[in-house]
Amino acid sequence: PAAVIVAIDGPAGTGKSSTSKAVAGKLGLGYLDTGAQYRAITWWMLNNGIDVNDATAVADAAAKPVIVSGTDPAAPTITVDGLDAAGPIRTQEVTAAVSAVSAVPEVRALITDLQRSIAAEAPNGIVVEGRDIGITVLPDADLKVFLTASPEARAARRSGELKGKDPQQATDLAATREALIKRDAADSGRKTSPLAKADDAVEVDTTELTLEQVIECVVTLIEGAG
Ligand code: C5P
Repeated sequence: PAAVIVAIDGPAGTGKSSTSKAVAGKLGLGYLDTGAQYRAITWWMLNNGIDVNDATAVADAAAKPVIVSGTDPAAPTITVDGLDAAGPIRTQEVTAAVSAVSAVPEVRALITDLQRSIAAEAPNGIVVEGRDIGITVLPDADLKVFLTASPEARAARRSGELKGKDPQQATDLAATREALIKRDAADSGRKTSPLAKADDAVEVDTTELTLEQVIECVVTLIEGAG
């Protein structure tokens, strides 16, 4: 069968990563976390003393870091200039800076090219998760899914996730909720490729669903597509 390309978009905390990884694993597809790529370039900017709010400085430096993503859904990897970035890209510092960096058109153009070549090279196809995959990166995807959930559910999930990684970040649910809402507003409001649902995307509200139910739903949609 031909390679199947699946685009999964939506705001933070809707279960995009967990769903995409599980679906890719079940169906033998590759997996690409595009948020990790924007986080990786942001981490590099912070490490190299670039002011992330200076769009010109960010644009000038955008081509310098070499970002490599591994697409095995069982063990996704991300490196920057050969350094393992999987841990450091999840810090609060990177999370707070990533929307500014990802809004810079030069950054988006470079990362979008990278994403398209990774998707084109995936032998059996790939599940690509992000914010602008269905509209901008892979407009010809075989299936587009847009995941949503209430702000409360998203904050609760994100705070639960953080608990496993960094106890200091998980303490304040209200702060997590505020940070999520602020980041979504920035991602939805930017000029270049804002977070948005493609007209031909299937919207799935995950507020009342378990992860297993969302996975099942997306697998069924993929089997019905193509
Ligand atoms: O998915 P995650 O929360 O890790 O994404 C981090 C950030 O990367 C988002 O808040 C957004 O600014 C940016 N992003 C983007 N386009 C994508 C994926 C992520 O702008 N396709």
